[in-house]
Amino acid sequence: MNKTVVKVEMSGNRYNAYTQSGEKVTSQILTSTRKSAFNKGMALEKREGKGGRTYWWKVPMSEFDNVSDTFVTPPSSEVEVPTDHAEVMNFISTSYKLKPKGLVMSELKWKYLIRSAIRGKNIMMTGQAGCGKTLAAKSLINSLDRPSFYFNMGGTQDPRSTLIGNTHYNKEKGTFFSESLFVKAIQTPNSVILLDELTRAHPDAWNILMTVLDSGQRYLRLDEKDGSDTIKVSDGVCFIATANIGNEYTSTRQLDKALMDRFTIIEMDLLNEEEEFGLLRYMYPSVDEGLITDVSKIAFLTRSESVNENARIGSGISTRTSVEIVGLLFDGFTLMESAEITIYPQYDNSGGVDSERTFVKQIVQKFVNDESGEELFDEVSE
Ligand SMILES: Nc1ncnc2c1ncn2[C@@H]1O[C@H](COP(=O)(O)OP(=O)(O)O)[C@@H](O)[C@H]1O
Ligand SMILES: [Mg+2]
Repeated sequence: MNKTVVKVEMSGNRYNAYTQSGEKVTSQILTSTRKSAFNKGMALEKREGKGGRTYWWKVPMSEFDNVSDTFVTPPSSEVEVPTDHAEVMNFISTSYKLKPKGLVMSELKWKYLIRSAIRGKNIMMTGQAGCGKTLAAKSLINSLDRPSFYFNMGGTQDPRSTLIGNTHYNKEKGTFFSESLFVKAIQTPNSVILLDELTRAHPDAWNILMTVLDSGQRYLRLDEKDGSDTIKVSDGVCFIATANIGNEYTSTRQLDKALMDRFTIIEMDLLNEEEEFGLLRYMYPSVDEGLITDVSKIAFLTRSESVNENARIGSGISTRTSVEIVGLLFDGFTLMESAEITIYPQYDNSGGVDSERTFVKQIVQKFVNDESGEELFDEVSE
């Protein structure tokens, strides 16, 4: 079989595609496809789907380097999600390179995330606030090249209109129903639907979603009344939700449990000091390395403290916060100022010297002495 594999290169703000012989084929390939291949460092192979339509499938860059001696399995459908078992296994085992560099997540967890999505599981990302749940969910969606829909469930005041739709009235049509985007989403085959902050959603939303998420049911009822119309969830639709909670908390309430039972749970880990440093350095390469080390240490110390038996603080500083701090350092704020703005307001001030805030201040203080030349507190023991 004669196959065409192209490489995408960037010139200016354009993503150009070239064959091995150097022929420019940019106009044959969608911009989004070229961009995504470029960002993932992958080549694109021309393939033919059912009905003879051609499309471009992402393949490892090595395919571009040695096209002729690779055997190709013809894909079974146009959707860029593998269906054949060998293909699925291959896709999973090579999927770590689809993970964006800016997301810190272990290879095992990332692969499990990809695998769960390919296998059509409902996925629930759990973990503390600001530990990368939404980022991981969005990265998964980007990696899969499937139709996607985003719903911030934490912000919904009226779950019925968000998930089902609204009844309207006008003179010409009389009373009519306009369905929600969610109805469209569940009717889109192979779509990935992100239900962000699901645990903060209105309980009515959970009730509506119960049948939708149940693998034995998979339908949306348009009305509470028994026997009312239902809408089927299309084949291949996968749900990914996020929950601002640790695993230990997830099944404490009854309703939570019924909901959680419908998901494969993937817990996002807190970053260790080294990972935190690596991420911050990657995001802000021009910020002083010593300062980045300090921020990583502060984050790590607060996290370690929060899991101690007699912890003096309930939770450590999140990665979201440490990224914010380094963003402030980048813009010329001092570590002291950055801490004051981003960290302290997150900790309770009541109880004076015994407060959570005082404790966190003491930790930060260890690292800002050089800057301010004055000490707020005596050094806490090392
Ligand atoms: N594991 C992580 N890898 C990379 N960045 C992270 C990670 N965790 C948090 N961040 C940073 O914090 C921000 C907030 O993360 P987010 O995914 O919104 O947290 P969550 O949804 O868990 O509350 C991200 O935009 C990113 O800058
Ligand atoms: Mg989030």
